[in-house]
Amino acid sequence: MAAAQGYRAVITGAGGGIGAAIARALAPRAAALVLVGRRAEPLAALAAGLGVPCRIVCGDLLDDRTLVEIEAAARAAGGIDLLVNNAGVSDFHAFETQSPAQIRAMLDTNLLAPMLLTRRLIPLLKEAQAAQIVNIGSVFGMLGFPGFAAYGASKAGLAGFSQALRRELSDTSVAVRHFAPRATRTPINSTAVDAMNRELRTAEDSPEAVAAAFMDFLGTRAWQRTLGGQERFFVLVNKLLPGLPDGAIRKQLAVIRKHLPT
Ligand SMILES: NC(=O)c1ccc[n+]([C@@H]2O[C@H](COP(=O)([O-])OP(=O)(O)OC[C@H]3O[C@@H](n4cnc5c(N)ncnc54)[C@H](OP(=O)(O)O)[C@@H]3O)[C@@H](O)[C@H]2O)c1
Repeated sequence: MAAAQGYRAVITGAGGGIGAAIARALAPRAAALVLVGRRAEPLAALAAGLGVPCRIVCGDLLDDRTLVEIEAAARAAGGIDLLVNNAGVSDFHAFETQSPAQIRAMLDTNLLAPMLLTRRLIPLLKEAQAAQIVNIGSVFGMLGFPGFAAYGASKAGLAGFSQALRRELSDTSVAVRHFAPRATRTPINSTAVDAMNRELRTAEDSPEAVAAAFMDFLGTRAWQRTLGGQERFFVLVNKLLPGLPDGAIRKQLAVIRKHLPT
C-alpha cells in the first residue's frame, strides 16, 4: 500500500505524542504533510525538522472552520492519499462523577471530529489512485476498562465507524483502516494513569515504537492492527469469552479505584 511518489498525508494531533512520532517516521517516505493541532509552536518546530514540505493547520478540530482549513491545505498540497485521524483526548475518571463536559469532549474529539473530517476529505481522497484513512483507536475501545468508560465508548465507536466505512468504500480506491495502540508514554495519560499502570505492571510503548508499528501497518493490507501480543490475546478472549476478563479486571478493581481521581 506504499504511495509510489511519497505519501501526501494529513495527520491530526501532530504536535506531540504519537502524532509527532508518526510524522517523523512518515517524513522520509512523504511528498507533503499537513500537520494539524491546536498549539502552533510544537507544530512549527516539528515541521522545521522534517525535511519535507509541510503545511500547518493550527485549530480546534471541534470547530468546522478548522475542517475547512484542513481541506484547503490538503488541496493546496496537491491532494492527499493518507488521512491519519490521530488527535484524541482522555480523562481517567469514575464515570458516575465524571463531568458531562469531559464526557462530551471525549466523544466529540475522539469520535465525531474524525468522522466529520473524514466525510469532508473523502472526495479528495477518492481523487488519488489509491488512498487510505487510518483511524487511531485504542485497546480500550475493544476491551472495556474501569475509569475509561467514556473514552472506551469513543474508541469503540471509532472502531465501528472504521469497519462500516471500510465496507461502504470497499469498491472505491479508498481503504479505511483501524490502528489500536496499547498504553503509550505520552502526555495524554495523567500522573494517576501512569501510577496505576506502574502498579498494575501494564506494558507501555514509546511513541517511536508505536510509529514504527504504524509504518509497518501502512505497508500491509490488513484493515486492523492492535499493538501488543498480550493485548491482542485479551481482546480476542474478550470477544469470545467476556466472562474471563470480567473476573480478571474485577480482581484489579481495588488498585484501579485507588488511582481514580476523586
Ligand atoms: N498514549 C496512550 O496511552 C494511547 C493508547 C492508545 C491510543 N492512544 C490514542 O493515540 C492518539 C494520540 O494520543 P497521544 O497518546 O499521542 O496523546 P497526546 O500526546 O496528548 O496527543 C494528542 C494530540 O491531539 C491533539 N488534539 C486533542 N484535541 C484536539 C482538538 N480538539 N483539536 C485539534 N487537536 C487536538 C493535541 O494537540 P494540541 O494539544 O496541540 O491540541 C495532541 O497533540 C489518541 O487518539 C489517543 O486516544 C493513545
